Amino acid sequence: MPNSVNNHFRSFFLFILFLAVHAAVAAPRQAAIASAHPLATQAGFEILRQGGNAFDAAVAVSAALAVVEPAGSGLGGGGFWLLHRVEDGKRVMLDGRERAPLSARRDMYLDKEGRFDSTRSINGPLSAGIPGTPAGLVYLAEQYGRRPLAQSLAPAIRYAREGFAVSERYRRLIAFRLDVVRRSPAAARIFLQQGDVPEAGFNLVQKNLADTLERLAARGRAGFYGGEAAKMLVEGVRAAGGIWDMKDLADYKVVERQPIEGVYKGIRITSASPPSSGGVVLIEALNILSSYDLSALDEITRKHLIIEAMRRAYHDRAVYLGDPDFVPLPLPRLLSAYYAAGLRSTIRFDGVLPSARLAGYVAPEVEGENTTHFSILDREGNRVAATLSINLPFGSGFVPPGTGVLLNDEMDDFASQRDVPNRYGLVGGDANAIAPGKRMLSSMTPTFLEDAQRVAILGTPGGSRIISMVLLATLEFAAGAGPDAWVQLPRFHHQYLPDRVQYEPGGLNDDEIDGLKKLGHRFKPVSRSYGNMQAILWDKSSGKVLAASDPRGEGLAVVQ
Ligand code: GLY
Repeated sequence: MPNSVNNHFRSFFLFILFLAVHAAVAAPRQAAIASAHPLATQAGFEILRQGGNAFDAAVAVSAALAVVEPAGSGLGGGGFWLLHRVEDGKRVMLDGRERAPLSARRDMYLDKEGRFDSTRSINGPLSAGIPGTPAGLVYLAEQYGRRPLAQSLAPAIRYAREGFAVSERYRRLIAFRLDVVRRSPAAARIFLQQGDVPEAGFNLVQKNLADTLERLAARGRAGFYGGEAAKMLVEGVRAAGGIWDMKDLADYKVVERQPIEGVYKGIRITSASPPSSGGVVLIEALNILSSYDLSALDEITRKHLIIEAMRRAYHDRAVYLGDPDFVPLPLPRLLSAYYAAGLRSTIRFDGVLPSARLAGYVAPEVEGENTTHFSILDREGNRVAATLSINLPFGSGFVPPGTGVLLNDEMDDFASQRDVPNRYGLVGGDANAIAPGKRMLSSMTPTFLEDAQRVAILGTPGGSRIISMVLLATLEFAAGAGPDAWVQLPRFHHQYLPDRVQYEPGGLNDDEIDGLKKLGHRFKPVSRSYGNMQAILWDKSSGKVLAASDPRGEGLAVVQ
């Protein structure tokens, strides 16, 4: 057996031993919530104080974010809630990902010449998948929560009715999508101030969204996917050129999926399963890295190996991954130690293996703050890591009149044309082609990390860079650092194509860039810092809980 594979099995057995020794674990001394907005974190604690568990708090936080961080997620979008329930040890991923409308077609974003027209896959109602977040909230409350849905939605309804103060971050993100939002009169009325970027501190009230949330609170699923709400959604979408049907909404279902699991140097990793690529790419990259002693290497070699692991794992994302209900996915192979050993054998210490050998694409500039993530730990030890999205900041920019619901533009996460990059510069093949009712491939990576002593709950927004951010944070966890370090970490990224190391300002220093250049790496600096990680650490031996919110954002992490 090759040494690296041996190492992998040894760490797996060590890990099982750890679990056995530490099976009886006390509950955390405190609860923690880290989210992208202070009002969302407060909403979660409000429900915990009323006797809710982490799952009720997750409903409250998700709904609050839908109101106070409309750039990142909302009732018009979807996402993944990764859950760990203490009473029976159940781990599950609730898949509330959007799906393609039933009349979607593979070539729906190609122009007459057969070229991909990305303006239609990111703007307006034609770019919107069927939302999963409202169904996810109902499912979470009914199947895992302890409090009524209406109680957990109450803070969000209050925020929508009374308004919230527009921040600088909101202003920057709406400015990025200003033209598109202006095209939708209902969206412009809600998100702009007299047709323009609102002043900082402007009190943004969302009366129609409050009504929609109230319908959801009163009628559950039927309050969004049926009746008056569904009629307004479908009529609004169709009147503006979209293709939704009442059956699209009536048929939408949350799916419980087995999370992806792996082991890296004695750390158990639980992460998002397809239709997110997050867990697979994360664990594949960690498997590749598992036989290196990264802490013993100089910084340039260490980063070179991490970049080469990212390149290979993202390559497999492009080739193999899609909606598991539509395409067979070779997950046992992609996640196996033998496969990782084979990929590792192609990595050289003295140079790169260029992706450009296969293709050479130029990625468009992308925002790194779309989507949202929050992490929750309650005092019983129940956990939630949730990453939710409407795709680009302010999604499609389109609101069906009367609903207050800003629709996603998640259809752009499909590969509209083989190997033609989407908005994130990601390429894909048949596995992620558009089909009626299919879920588009995601990069969202809500994750739990555990060793004998520590439990981490983490994730971040950031499009295609989500997975590499969680990978870097996982390596910091493995090196013994705490959540402050994970969220502050300078970030770099490689996603196979374009064949460029992307890095935020300060993500790599000049010496590292020089050293990596000598190995053959090419670079694409990202003009702004990216990501908005929200993380929690529970030290089981001391009972101590720590939480951190990314300094790049305006979030709030509280331990109480
Ligand atoms: N829309 C971003 C993602 O799902 O990866």
